[in-house]
Amino acid sequence: MSDPQGLDPADWEAIEQQLADFAREELSALRGSFDKPVWREIPESLQSELRQEPLPRQGEDMATVIRRYRRQIRPWRNGNTHPRFFGWVQGGGNLASVFADLAVSLLNPNVGGREHGAVHVEREVIRWCHELFGFPQGSSGILTTGTSAATHLAIQLAAFRRLGLDSKKHGFFQAGSPLRCYCSTQGHSSIIKAVEACGIGSDHLVAIPTDAGHRIDTEALDNAIRNDRARGLRPFLVIGNAGTVNTGSFDDLAALRAICDRHDCWLHVDGAFGAWMHIAGSPWSRLTEGIGAADSLAFDFHKLMSVSYECGGLLVRDGDFHQRVYSIRPDYLAPHGQALAGGEPWFCDFGLELSRSFRALKVWFTFRHYGIERLGQSVARACERTRYLADRIRFSTHYRLCRDPVSTIVTFRLRDTTDPVEHNRRIEAICYALQQRGEAVFSLTREDELRVLRASVINHRTMEADIDAAVEALEAEAVRLLNLPD
Ligand SMILES: Cc1ncc(COP(=O)(O)O)c(C=O)c1O
Repeated sequence: MSDPQGLDPADWEAIEQQLADFAREELSALRGSFDKPVWREIPESLQSELRQEPLPRQGEDMATVIRRYRRQIRPWRNGNTHPRFFGWVQGGGNLASVFADLAVSLLNPNVGGREHGAVHVEREVIRWCHELFGFPQGSSGILTTGTSAATHLAIQLAAFRRLGLDSKKHGFFQAGSPLRCYCSTQGHSSIIKAVEACGIGSDHLVAIPTDAGHRIDTEALDNAIRNDRARGLRPFLVIGNAGTVNTGSFDDLAALRAICDRHDCWLHVDGAFGAWMHIAGSPWSRLTEGIGAADSLAFDFHKLMSVSYECGGLLVRDGDFHQRVYSIRPDYLAPHGQALAGGEPWFCDFGLELSRSFRALKVWFTFRHYGIERLGQSVARACERTRYLADRIRFSTHYRLCRDPVSTIVTFRLRDTTDPVEHNRRIEAICYALQQRGEAVFSLTREDELRVLRASVINHRTMEADIDAAVEALEAEAVRLLNLPD
């Protein structure tokens, strides 16, 4: 019997039916969207409606809320669930996560800690990831909103390792000469953000040049660390890339480990999408050699594993240290060692959040339902489809590959680059036109002075026919917009 003044429905059977109908309708809307435009602009009238709608002081029945959702929200997808979405690095989502998301909403646990099933599931998922990536006994980990959040934690850990745990109290600013960290020029912007937010300062994030394959120049790295030490600065952290965001290239992680050992630095690896090459079999898994020797690894489940947003992870080699950095237990959270307040260690002792969602369940459903072998094959297929797209561009009339793809990212430009300013104007126009017509979504990046188109081929729904259609749209747009002969 529900409290009529409470928030539960008076008629649970009716809600059950409504929820089942809603799930059916959402699923068929998703399926139906694959034949529709990848993306559509939200009409100005709707944007203005959403800007002006008053705070809903009185509720409306669920059927009305659903009707609003259908009109105001559902048609205006981000596009990442669509097989012709190649923008940025966005996962398409898998259906196993949908079951988990529903269960999580209904279970609604707080996974900050205590003794209940969800905590054990997150531990199990982390243990599986230790095994997958080769992290030893005694390692720890935590699920995060994504790689940005995981990288932020890793940089804090590395700084506390260098400065000692007393600096938790004294602060970084009392800590003497500047800490220095190193990453290649291809490092992701989340690294800069974390270095700034941690108070280390991006002036102390040294951008090391790369070779022609966009891999960090390890000799230059070694020299930079030596020079900094000679100047009395304090090198403490090297961030390696397992899959750079611009071109999908991989640093030599074993060489980075050796350099870190030589100079007593923490090795963190950004494996947002690339870490998953590890399970893709030959030849792709070779790219991640040495990943298990990192001090910490950040990676996303919401990219190549297609787990629904948000879901990333951090693994840390020294689990005790990880816990000592983040553990604070005031009286009301004191460990009781028994009953619901038992279940040590608590996840709130491994990160910044006290209240935490049960994001581990969607990884658990995904791993259990598809299995690592099938997920690995899906990663390998993404790499193969990336090559297929690269081959289509290689033989294109109007476009030229910037470089052979290494993993799941391809960059390309127009063939005619005699006037870089004009080239950049045109390439942007092509990118936006395809998005606006909903034919395919590519995004943009820069190679030297040129703006270039960039495709990230990580959607498990993308088939060769989708790539063919996207390339045809690119060619047609080059002809149409640029008045080039075809
Ligand atoms: C290489 C790399 N690192 C970090 C990130 C940030 O990941 P997230 O968006 O999950 O925070 C991305 C995102 O695309 C990425 O590609």
